Amino acid sequence: HKDNTLNGKKVLITAGPTYENIDPVRFIGNFSSGKMGIAIAEAFYNRGAEVNLVLGPSKEPVPGGINVINVRSAQQMYDACMALFPDTDMAVMSAAVADFRPKTLAEEKIKKQDDEGMTIELVRNPDILKACGAIKSDKQLLVGFALETNNEEENALGKLKRKNADMIVLNSLNDEKAGFGTDTNKVTIFEKNGTIHRWPLRSKSELGVQLADLMIEKINESK
Ligand code: C5P
Repeated sequence: HKDNTLNGKKVLITAGPTYENIDPVRFIGNFSSGKMGIAIAEAFYNRGAEVNLVLGPSKEPVPGGINVINVRSAQQMYDACMALFPDTDMAVMSAAVADFRPKTLAEEKIKKQDDEGMTIELVRNPDILKACGAIKSDKQLLVGFALETNNEEENALGKLKRKNADMIVLNSLNDEKAGFGTDTNKVTIFEKNGTIHRWPLRSKSELGVQLADLMIEKINESK
């Protein structure tokens, strides 16, 4: 089921969680599986694109033919994306990137002290989607994801503007079959031009194909 629609085009996808090391045996992470981003990468590969998948720690299998760049931390994901984005036609940032990392990395395992509490100081990680948005050319199409628990649509629209993205895919949390780890997802897509797509629950692989096809439609329109 591979076709030539995107022959010669380059696509960049981020997927999975990031792990932010605290000491040699501990990290701060999240429950992202990477399934959604891998499904998007596969959809673009099947349209004939050259696909670079910058993947955080994920146990999910990645279909052959996709170039996988394995990373662990947000900083590593940022560095990989900054190197690849300028030469990319379309990008989808679907990774669940940690917003913060420990300010210092302890060289030795941190020991507990009797009844004392414990504080880890955190600092901000770079925002990869925003950094790509800041250097995006008119010929490039950039898509981000959003996961919100309140004022979903308002926040998604704010993200679209603030990060200079062309589309934001809002994950619904109002459905137990949507989100982290599941094989299905329910999304609302906000386009820069104001168009809103409310898609019912569907498999992540179907969603990947339909998102890729919507992006192909957009990049062809803008030519
Ligand atoms: O601001 P927020 O984290 O809600 O934005 C989510 C979107 O931004 C997702 O597309 C995510 O992949 C991206 N992001 C990023 N780098 C970060 C934080 C989020 O690329 N440090």
